[in-house]
Amino acid sequence: MRYSTKFAVGSLFAFAFAVSSASAGGLTVDLANGENIYNNGKEDTGVPACSGCHMPDGMGSDDLGTPRLAGQIFQFIAKQLQDYADDKREDTTMYIMNSNAKGLTAQERLDVSAYIAEWQHDRETVDKSVSDLNTLRANGVEVGETYLGKSIVNHGIGEKSVAACRSCHDYNGRGVEPMFPMIGQQKYTYLVAQMKKWRDGSRANDPQAVMRNVAKNMSDEDINNVAAYLSTKEASPYSLGNSRLPARHVPYKH
Ligand code: HEC
Ligand code: HEC
Repeated sequence: MRYSTKFAVGSLFAFAFAVSSASAGGLTVDLANGENIYNNGKEDTGVPACSGCHMPDGMGSDDLGTPRLAGQIFQFIAKQLQDYADDKREDTTMYIMNSNAKGLTAQERLDVSAYIAEWQHDRETVDKSVSDLNTLRANGVEVGETYLGKSIVNHGIGEKSVAACRSCHDYNGRGVEPMFPMIGQQKYTYLVAQMKKWRDGSRANDPQAVMRNVAKNMSDEDINNVAAYLSTKEASPYSLGNSRLPARHVPYKH
């Protein structure tokens, strides 16, 4: 992996190691329970079905502003649910995800994370569910230019010290286990919202402030451009440097 800016690689990977070794220690998950939570929620603690907002296929929704979860990296999802439960990440839309995460036990959070992560990793089958930029534009949403976003994803913005997304999130944002999430084919609205949250510091659960540093010098236009490219880029297996999606390692038993 190449890094276009200097940052504390050592401590980042120390963090990643902590996450993966925590889950490697004989961890067992119950995928059927994860599926049940995803589709039905949990009545006694008032957690609604995840599918109601993240969609039955796990692909998220631009209308609701929810992220795609299907195929996301297990350790990353588990960390986000833990961060919501601990209030290290705040869902500023009515605290919804904080309440949901607190309504699940630690084991249930892992169960549902594993269920989500094992789903639709093969993104070729879900290309049709990517954000529809034309419809968003027609609805009055500001949408960026994919070709300008492509340049930021691959090369960053030198004069503003914005690091290339690819240096951490890999080719077309496909993600790197265990800690760099898949941001390719993530929903447009969600990507824009999160970049703005990193920029204004209202999301601050990134180790070493890596994402706050990436976003702090980006303009609204830069953010729209990068989101336009990432949200719609197909995970073509034939493009240069991307002969196949990396295999996933499952750090738990089930
Ligand atoms: C009422 C709608 C709603 C429901 C129900 C819901 N979510 Fe969410 N979820 C959201 C929204 C909105 C966000 C983005 C919040 C933010 O900006 O932090 C989100 C974010 C997340 C994230 C962070 C993803 C990322 O890429 O960082 C995870 C993981 C998640 N939800 C899992 C779940 C699970 C598991 C359930 C079911 C137990 C669930 N959600 C139920 C609306 C919902
Ligand atoms: C130095 C490494 C690094 C670089 C460069 C980087 N990221 Fe990230 N990014 C991360 C890490 C680590 C996280 C996970 C933070 C966490 O644990 O919540 C992350 C998370 C994100 C998220 C949140 C994903 C989600 O599902 O919630 C988005 C969006 C994102 N990055 C976009 C970008 C974009 C766009 C660029 C390029 C302009 C970029 N990143 C460059 C390391 C990086």
